[in-house]
Amino acid sequence: MKIDVEYLEFMWPMRHFLITSGDSQNNPNILTVSFCMPVSKDPPLIACAIGRSAYSCRLIESSEEFVVNVPSKNLTKEIYYCGFHSGFTINKFNETGLTPQAARKLKVPIIDECVAHMECMLKQAISTGDKKLFIGEVVEAYADEAIVKGIKKIEYAKGEYPRKVYATRFNNNYYSV
Ligand SMILES: Cc1cc2nc3c(=O)[nH]c(=O)nc-3n(C[C@H](O)[C@H](O)[C@H](O)COP(=O)(O)O)c2cc1C
Repeated sequence: MKIDVEYLEFMWPMRHFLITSGDSQNNPNILTVSFCMPVSKDPPLIACAIGRSAYSCRLIESSEEFVVNVPSKNLTKEIYYCGFHSGFTINKFNETGLTPQAARKLKVPIIDECVAHMECMLKQAISTGDKKLFIGEVVEAYADEAIVKGIKKIEYAKGEYPRKVYATRFNNNYYSV
């Protein structure tokens, strides 16, 4: 027997990424995304679907740039913190202790603790439903030398549908850093 499900539930587990964005005063923000994928190799394009009500949505629309930072598993706590708190009310760099580092080409910082970084200039923003799909051209891509040279193996951060995680782990302080 088959029963009805919410379609998203079976798209998981998915990889997690940390998107950095910023305002004109260079106040940076961090957002956790899993709806993030390459959509062209030449030119190099990445698409991220970001909630219309997220602070990051507003920041990317106005600054037209963002960075896709690749966290490894050791940043799981920070990933969930940034995914359940909004930059409208807090500074997530201060709250998590993650370190903003100057990007190569953009004003938006990268997250030093992440292993790889894709600096993106916004090419297109498409309204989907409750999300906006931001398509960015990768203008710089770089990663930790040990990972690129294969000396160290990346342990990708990925996980279950956040709603499920939220329900099971919220009570044991999982989202505090
Ligand atoms: C594991 C995980 C994955 C998430 N993936 C997305 C995503 O792909 N798109 C999105 O808009 N929000 C996603 N979220 C939720 C946002 O990270 C969350 O709404 C965040 O608080 C918005 O932050 P902001 O208001 O500072 O931009 C995810 C949350 C978690 C925990």
